[in-house]
Amino acid sequence: MKIFVTGGLGYIGSHTSVALLNSGHDVVILDNLSNSDKSTIEKIKQITNKSFSFYEGDIGDRKLVGKILHTFNPDHVIHFASLKSVADSISMKKKYYDNNVLGSKNLFNEMEKNNVNSIIFSSSATVYGNTTQVPINELSPLAPINPYGENKVSIEKLLIEKHNKKNWNICILRYFNPAGTHSSNLLGEKITKNSANLMPNICKSLLSKNLKLLVYGNDYDTPDGTGIRDYIHINDLVVGHLQAIKYVASNNSKINILNLGTGVGYSVLEMINTFESISNKKLNYSIVDKRVGDVAISIADPALANEALNWNAKFSLEDMCRDTWNKFLYEHELRK
Ligand code: NAD
Ligand code: WQD
Repeated sequence: MKIFVTGGLGYIGSHTSVALLNSGHDVVILDNLSNSDKSTIEKIKQITNKSFSFYEGDIGDRKLVGKILHTFNPDHVIHFASLKSVADSISMKKKYYDNNVLGSKNLFNEMEKNNVNSIIFSSSATVYGNTTQVPINELSPLAPINPYGENKVSIEKLLIEKHNKKNWNICILRYFNPAGTHSSNLLGEKITKNSANLMPNICKSLLSKNLKLLVYGNDYDTPDGTGIRDYIHINDLVVGHLQAIKYVASNNSKINILNLGTGVGYSVLEMINTFESISNKKLNYSIVDKRVGDVAISIADPALANEALNWNAKFSLEDMCRDTWNKFLYEHELRK
């Protein structure tokens, strides 16, 4: 099938594009390179030995998006393109709204004009905010506590409207905490010097002795006091998307909203212990105050996704940590 992938050079988009190409799908990628590099194009081709079309541009560019949809006439769209930093969304609220919500609105309008009515959308567990219900199922109230989470709720609402009024086939996937990388070490999350996420920060501290990991709070109501998250391997996330393609292709104008998680949570200290045993290094960390906006526990109830997509997460925390660490070492060697 023909799949139009927005944000396809990013962390999850590039891994998914590899899987789509390896599964025999035709792929077109649109990406504005705001959080990715053009070099990823060659990496995807190197891994898959397949070709695909790439357009550098913005989902907000009506003419470009319309041209791609008209000429490629995709069977389905997978919509990854988004700014995704919670902290940045607080300091740049309008930029995030314009990029994420108005950009998505433009994409959906151009899809409608070109009779493309099937889409998989990257949403986030951030839509649930500080829910106390754990594990979290899809009926949990949507109560985002930052503009990024609000963006995702707004875009979900736009899609629900498209389904109700235009009978679109829609799969909204709410990812929990994606982690890990492709076995080639060629793909991965773009890590900036001030990356917020736990796993890259652990790797940075393991590599440089004088860079302490800050553990944001050890007085949460959890067994060891540190925050618990549902980390899901990118390989599992990718298979979930392949199954979602089958789901939207086989369903007559249905909509489904699904949590993509493992249903198992790990604390910050458990992550640190896992990385220490995998790297055979001691991590230098200190406990500091809680980070504003963090929830104590975020674990998915993936039962709906398991059922609807005939899908289960299979990779372990060790797999995620080992892949992340190996990729970090690989890039560190390249920079030498
Ligand atoms: P990423 O930043 O690696 O990839 C996003 C890609 O979209 C980047 O290549 C970026 O250049 C591109 N992009 C951003 N705005 C664009 C625009 N206006 N037009 C065209 N391209 C644009 O992020 P990711 O981790 O791969 O996330 C992919 C999707 O999954 C995002 O929608 C994100 O919100 C969602 N998500 C990610 C996580 C996570 O922890 N990584 C968790 C939940 C949900
Ligand atoms: C995990 C745990 C921190 C860094 C974020 C976004 C979410 C989604 C996934 C896009 C928490 C603790 C972290 C550090 C720490 N992205 N931590 N020291 O916050 O669950 O989710 O990424 O959709 O929207 O919010 O992930 O990796 O930042 O934090 O102690 O240096 O690690 O407090 O308990 P989070 P994270």
